[in-house]
Amino acid sequence: MRASFMSMLAMGTAVALGAPAPSRVSQMVKKSTVCTFNSAASASASKSSCNTIVLDNIEVPAGETLDLTDLKSGTKVIFNGETTFGYEEWDGPMIEISGSNIIVSGTSNHTINGGGERWWDGEGTNGGKTKPKFFYAHSLDDSTITGLNIKNTPVQAFSVESDNLILNSITIDDSDGDANGGHNTDGFDVGESTGVTISNAVVRNQDDCLAVNSGTNIVFTGGTCSGGHGLSIGSVGGRSDNTVKNVTITNSVVKDSENGIRIKTNSGTTGSVSGVTFSNIQISGITDYGIVFEQDYENGDPTGTPTDGVPITDLTVESITGTVESDATDIYILCASGACSDWTWSDVSVTGGSTSDECENVPSGASC
Ligand SMILES: *[C@@H]1O[C@H](CO)[C@@H](O)[C@H](O)[C@H]1NC(C)=O
Ligand SMILES: *[C@@H]1O[C@H](CO)[C@@H](O)[C@H](O)[C@H]1NC(C)=O
Repeated sequence: MRASFMSMLAMGTAVALGAPAPSRVSQMVKKSTVCTFNSAASASASKSSCNTIVLDNIEVPAGETLDLTDLKSGTKVIFNGETTFGYEEWDGPMIEISGSNIIVSGTSNHTINGGGERWWDGEGTNGGKTKPKFFYAHSLDDSTITGLNIKNTPVQAFSVESDNLILNSITIDDSDGDANGGHNTDGFDVGESTGVTISNAVVRNQDDCLAVNSGTNIVFTGGTCSGGHGLSIGSVGGRSDNTVKNVTITNSVVKDSENGIRIKTNSGTTGSVSGVTFSNIQISGITDYGIVFEQDYENGDPTGTPTDGVPITDLTVESITGTVESDATDIYILCASGACSDWTWSDVSVTGGSTSDECENVPSGASC
């Protein structure tokens, strides 16, 4: 296949599919060029001459990115067969795609296998081996990623920094990491983005299913999260962008996870969390908190002392139902004085654990 694509290029031929009728204005016939690649290097080298890029059983060399950045507008990227990656300690990313009006998908027989077990050591990004980030969707604007099957990411799966990006029906299965030291295997980390919709994701991992650190007009819907830390906003504060605004997390299931839904803000920092809605979320098998909103994080851990620099306002929590484990806490809210307001709270039923007696400054309407 590699030889045939290269010889096709050498002969200057292209496959024309579905060429549109000539336009009256230009009389130009646009050719749709389908390129099938069997190596990451050839895909990166020739990416700009293809309308459709088929990545066929690619083995990405150790320490290299499958680089599909700056694709031309309208490019389709299709993964086929098994995509694998060589082993090296490095930061990644293993895959990076950028451009506008890009459609990324996979055939019915594809898996993108990060081979994370070679890096997993129980330490994630806190130490041990240097582990590559998996997929950067940065400046992938007005675009869609749909139907990808992803397995065993070394650490975080998707880093999303894009405008108007749809991520639909993506499966991330890091379940092998449960017994083998998978850690910090976040599903979707969203930051500095406007207009991101993540629908019908299935995430089986060992950290946040979703973490929104900053961004506006973000939707997560129809998701199934298990094994990890739940659906999170934050931690917010202390980054270059510290505004979270208009985020809807809805119609989802969180099971066998540390938390159900969560907002955490960093102490001593500034920013804002406003217009967040959590609705219609079923939780079960939760080991820490069913619902947890706290303004006291520092270096990744709660301090117990909330600060008011990142207020949480206009929060809606509705139809959050289910159970936590008996040694877990149903609901925990730790706000600084005056830093949580305009909360709407309805049909919340989280049971099975203990009732916290450490909640502070709970705004009217909500309850611990
Ligand atoms: C699916 O992809 C795998 C990995 O490349 C390959 O071994 C297998 O033959 C493919 N199956 C079909 C039905 O094409
Ligand atoms: C909030 O985000 C949603 C999803 O992008 C969008 O449809 C809606 O218009 C936004 N609301 C406001 C007030 O901007």
